Amino acid sequence: MGYTIGVDIGTSGTKSLLIDPDGNILAESSATYGVSMPKPMWTEQDPEDWWNATVKTVRAVVRSAKVKPADVKAIGLSGQMHGSVFLDAKGKVIRPALLWNDQRTAAECEEITERAGGKKKLIKMVGNPALTGFTAPKILWLRNNEPRRFDRLKHVLLPKDEIRRRLTGELATEVSDASGMLLLDVARRKWSTTLLKKLELDPELLGTVYESEDVTGTLRKEVADQLGLTADCKVVGGAGDCAAGALGNGIVRRGVLTASLGTSGVLFMHSDQPQYDSQGRLHTFCHAVRGKWHMMGVTLSAAGSLQWFVENVCTELAKRRGQDPYKTINSEAHAIPAGSEGLVFAPYLAGERTPHADPLARGCFVGLTAKHTRGHMARAVMEGVAMSLRESLEIMKSLDVPVREMRLSGGGAKSQLWKQIFADVMNEASCTINAEQGPAYGVALLAAVGSGQYSNIQEACKATIEVVAKTPPKRADVRKYDQLFPVYQSVYSQLKDTFAALSEI
Ligand code: XUL
Repeated sequence: MGYTIGVDIGTSGTKSLLIDPDGNILAESSATYGVSMPKPMWTEQDPEDWWNATVKTVRAVVRSAKVKPADVKAIGLSGQMHGSVFLDAKGKVIRPALLWNDQRTAAECEEITERAGGKKKLIKMVGNPALTGFTAPKILWLRNNEPRRFDRLKHVLLPKDEIRRRLTGELATEVSDASGMLLLDVARRKWSTTLLKKLELDPELLGTVYESEDVTGTLRKEVADQLGLTADCKVVGGAGDCAAGALGNGIVRRGVLTASLGTSGVLFMHSDQPQYDSQGRLHTFCHAVRGKWHMMGVTLSAAGSLQWFVENVCTELAKRRGQDPYKTINSEAHAIPAGSEGLVFAPYLAGERTPHADPLARGCFVGLTAKHTRGHMARAVMEGVAMSLRESLEIMKSLDVPVREMRLSGGGAKSQLWKQIFADVMNEASCTINAEQGPAYGVALLAAVGSGQYSNIQEACKATIEVVAKTPPKRADVRKYDQLFPVYQSVYSQLKDTFAALSEI
């Protein structure tokens, strides 16, 4: 028997799960941690929190699945993308990691674009423009702002790859997550020596790049003992959480999209060739499928917007013991008609990526009247997030991407109301699949491929993933949202300068 484990090092917590060779989940465990915000729009985490959560949850799934340690053949790692773990020569973390939604690097993005010879040339080198969340600007930020720490810098790893280092001792990454560092030649699937030279960065800073299903090492003996596993247990490349989530949703061919509603929201499409949006609004990254790519649009605050609303606006609800505040908010929002009676929410609480690439964008409610209630606001938040991902869908459609099916995943997709809103805003049925644990499940499948149980990830997805429910769009609400969408879009264009002015105050 061969079991595998998937670990997803997320922003709000780490989830681990253990699957059998047929893809059945035998045990799951999660552990949460916080995000520190030393300044507005800055986000940091201590990699030690990820490690402790990984150890705790992996031990828990091994124990509760009651499998023989030697039968756990491989681990797959997934994690929040773009975060920068800065290490010194002794392997010590130099400072807290800057996260994917940290917006401090606008000046460094300009510097990178300039050093590359302009946005077009940069896109040619690494497939993407410089965006504040990506990793390369974070490295330059360290050099420009904390030179003493930069002098100690020997390696930069992504969050899940720091966990790999602690599990196996290897400094390695894989193509899907490496794409988000802005240092990978995405078309050739290897580090861009051209850009590294222009940025005066030492290639030795970076780990070895693997394909996602390749074995990158085995567990160190003392770690295997700590986890309740054996030192023969392999660790495969794994994937950034977007590509991992897509695998967990069976997105391994053209035409099937996934919209995921985690802290961030992602609209993800598989592509057989590297395909680019010439304006760089969508990211072009390597997929976690050997020799394939993907495009995606990212909304920085998706389920994160609803979480902000519940925790900071519905404080009294959030404090009630034994009651789920999201349940109350969902039922209040459900009672409100589509369009929230003229209330629009722009989900730019952490700035925005697609399509605006604007770290200064700010969240807002527009159209409040004395009639609006908490339910209206909650519904407007859900609608604003869906419309923000519709912006990505419109760009994909303009690039002639076929859309045959949309699968919804992530924590927010547990809400039937949000599923319906997505179907109506996108005018596509929201499909639900049998596996709910997106990224952790996706990398557990990669581990099953890496340990030889399937010959490739397409085969693994085919054997384990199926659509189990569909929420079709409601015609009348589709028309309402078609009317609302241009109004939603005008919020950013009309307030762009106001957002910039506010950020000065
Ligand atoms: C993707 C991105 C986010 C994080 C969140 O580009 O920044 O989806 O990966 O975990």
